[in-house]
Amino acid sequence: MDLPNEMRLALDAALRGAGRVELRATAAALSQRYRAGHGAANGPPEGVSYVRGSADAAAYAAYRMPATYAAVTAAMGALAARLPDWVPRSLLDAGAGLGAALWAATETWEDLGGAELIEAESAMLALGRQIAARSRHPALAAAVWRQANLTEPWQSRSHDLVAATYVLGELPDAARGPLVDQLWAHSSQALLLVEPGTPQGWAIIRAARERLRTAGACIIAPCPHQGACPLADDDWCHFSQRLARSKAQRASKGADLGYEDEKFAYVAVARIPGTPIAARVLRRPLVRPGRIELALCTPTGLHHEIVTRANRERWRMARDVEWGDAL
Ligand SMILES: C[S@@+](CC[C@H](N)C(=O)[O-])C[C@H]1O[C@@H](n2cnc3c(N)ncnc32)[C@H](O)[C@@H]1O
Repeated sequence: MDLPNEMRLALDAALRGAGRVELRATAAALSQRYRAGHGAANGPPEGVSYVRGSADAAAYAAYRMPATYAAVTAAMGALAARLPDWVPRSLLDAGAGLGAALWAATETWEDLGGAELIEAESAMLALGRQIAARSRHPALAAAVWRQANLTEPWQSRSHDLVAATYVLGELPDAARGPLVDQLWAHSSQALLLVEPGTPQGWAIIRAARERLRTAGACIIAPCPHQGACPLADDDWCHFSQRLARSKAQRASKGADLGYEDEKFAYVAVARIPGTPIAARVLRRPLVRPGRIELALCTPTGLHHEIVTRANRERWRMARDVEWGDAL
């Protein structure tokens, strides 16, 4: 996946003048704070957010937003694939950061009409607005950005699609469940939650999935079924999205590789069921001489399938299958 040209140019413009060395040092400190604290029972040790001030916001723009954009776009793609006739007219992005989910939504559903973004940190709001203002898409250019703390009472109208991406893990344990309920209550059609593809990120998604399922939400993606998650407690359901790095991104990250892989966990639910799928591919397929091994989640449980050339149709299908695909 590539960043949309308009987003890449908007990020470049926002970061023009930022010193590379300072940016890299700030990003390293930020990612250290995230690694130490993600999923912590009490949330960030100081303040509401791990991102504090304009230097952190710039570092987030350079180092995290492209990757979160890529993961959220992949998750939205999975949601869109199971609701092929559905186009959300409005988005609520809760814990919006710099608006990665809004950029992803406009890529996924070109006809998205409007968006409201809620964010606690004023430096993120300011930079997110500045980046979005460079888009010609009306939902980005005219988005409503609002400062609010999601763990305190907040107001919004209901929206077709509600997204909370890479935010639940920043909240205190006790705040997550009630916020998931509020987000679902604000969604007239669908809700998407995305977290890092770590055991902690997955634990947060799994708990939210169970809560939403119990509340009567239809599970749309990644699961091919409505039942309790069949994964063992020591396993975790996560996916990976590859994002191409531009020359400028490579230089700013001091990276040799022309891409990065963002691991993420997600759940998308809706008020109507999605078109059925037979399975979701839970791991990168293992390709061995003469056979391909697939780890599948199916409506009847987990299934380890070994495909050989003997079944030519299945073999042709398995050769093209990728981690995260719906079958
Ligand atoms: C890791 S960033 C994710 C940003 C964006 N959603 C994305 O996917 O790139 C988490 C964002 O949630 C915001 N946040 C954390 N706790 C919050 C709270 N209690 N209320 C509102 N925003 C919050 C942070 O300020 C930060 O911008």
